Formats: sequence, C-alpha cells, structure tokens
Amino acid sequence: MSVKDQLIKERLPKHVAIIMDGNGRWAKKRGNSRVFGHKNGVKAVRAVTEAAAELEIDYVTLYAFSTENWRRPKMEVDALMSLLVKTISAETKTLNKNNVRLAVIGCIDTLPKDVRVKLMECIDATSQNTGLTLCLALSYSSRWEITEAVKNIATAVKNDELNVEDIDADVISNNLTTQGIPDPELMIRTSGELRISNFLMWQLAYAELYFCDTLWPDFQKQDFYEALMDFQSRERRFGKTSEQLKK
Ligand code: FPP
Repeated sequence: MSVKDQLIKERLPKHVAIIMDGNGRWAKKRGNSRVFGHKNGVKAVRAVTEAAAELEIDYVTLYAFSTENWRRPKMEVDALMSLLVKTISAETKTLNKNNVRLAVIGCIDTLPKDVRVKLMECIDATSQNTGLTLCLALSYSSRWEITEAVKNIATAVKNDELNVEDIDADVISNNLTTQGIPDPELMIRTSGELRISNFLMWQLAYAELYFCDTLWPDFQKQDFYEALMDFQSRERRFGKTSEQLKK
C-alpha cells in the first residue's frame, strides 16, 4: 500500500505550517544562483498545495518571506518579490480550479506595491473557494506579530474597552494575524535545520514538529505524505498522561 493510502483521513491535521528551507543550498549544489533555487522552490509549493487540497486539509501556511529576510542582498529580495508576483498571477486560475483560497499573514504594508496589488487581486479572486486555505506568511515574524498584538491590547485597556483581568489566551490569539485560523497541528521544516526561526511561535505551542533533510526544491508530494504519516504515529497528550488518553 502506498504511504498516501495508509493515511487515516480522520486523523489528518487541519492546519500544516511549513518552513520552506534549503533553496540556496539546492542551487549552490548545482553551481547556480540562490534565485534559481527559489524558482525551483515554486514547484514544491505547487506539489504541497495540490496534495493538501486532494487530502482536504483545511489550512497550509507557508513561511515565504520573514521579517529578517529583508536583510538579504537587494538583488535576492527583488528577485523573490518578482517571483511572488509572477507565481501569484500564473497560479490564480489553478487555485480556483482546485477550490483553494489564498490568504496572507505578515506586515503587508512593507511589501512593494505591485506585490500587494497582485496579492489582493488573488485573495479577492479566490475568496469564494471553500477547500484548502493557502496562507502565505510574508514579511512575517512572530516577534513582530506578538508586539503588534500587545500594542493593540494595551490600547484597548487604555481606552477602557478591555479590563486587564479579561486578558486571556483567546484575547491574545484574536489579536494575532492568524485570528480565526486554527493553530497548526503539524510544523514541517525542510533542509535539516532544527529551529523555529520566529515562525508562529504562539500558534505552534502544541504542534508536532517534523524535520527532514530534503532541501525545499526537492520536496514532493511523497515527502508531504511521509510527514503526515509521522504525525499520525505521534501521541498527542496536551499535558495529559498516556493512561488518561486511553480512558
Ligand atoms: C528559504 O531558503 C526560502 C525562502 C526564504 C523563500 C521561499 C520562497 C519560495 C519557495 C518561492 C516563492 C514562494 C511562493 C509561495 C510563491 P533559503 O534561501 O534560506 O535556503 P538556504 O538555507 O539553503 O540558503
């Protein structure tokens, strides 16, 4: 039986978050520029989106550009932005065909205007779709997001719209850019790096973490199924004991 056929539909995660890492190393191994790696990374984005839509997973969040990525050479940043615009334009039709809705989290105001316009066009064009939500984390970092949430909550308290005693985990979740999106149950990071890198730090509190050595451009549907298989083998205790779960 194939790995895909062994997956138990009822036990698939509703939300998978992915740190797509290793584009640069993949390109270097081939004597090519880092941008070549990013271009080939788009193929893996397509494969994962298609696989997740087929499996009826509700959300996939991709770490496409972090707040820290602005520090990369201008040439690489510009190439990444232009790749985003091109990919979004080229894929809108396919997203609609597959009933996929596009969403975005991050400090969108800092993105170049053409990227913002294309993103909004695609979000609008796919807004009626009811299958997978593909969420791109762009100019995103958890510390930025949590700082913004703290500012919003402090302002609400200052304006007498919120009591300090009423601040709980739900209030904080509702002030994050992922408001309304369930927390990821599985986080995948490719390329062998064992870090969270400022990605969804609040939301990943109970997520299963899966690390694989595959460089992102080589990541295919089969690799995604293997991550899901591994997820299904984990015992998710949420602070309880194994014995309590068996009752
Ligand atoms: C990390 O690899 C990857 C990125 C910073 C960018 C990811 C972007 C894409 C896959 C292309 C566009 C995406 C979409 C959603 C259309 P790295 O450059 O850090 O690799 P390295 O660690 O090997 O240097």
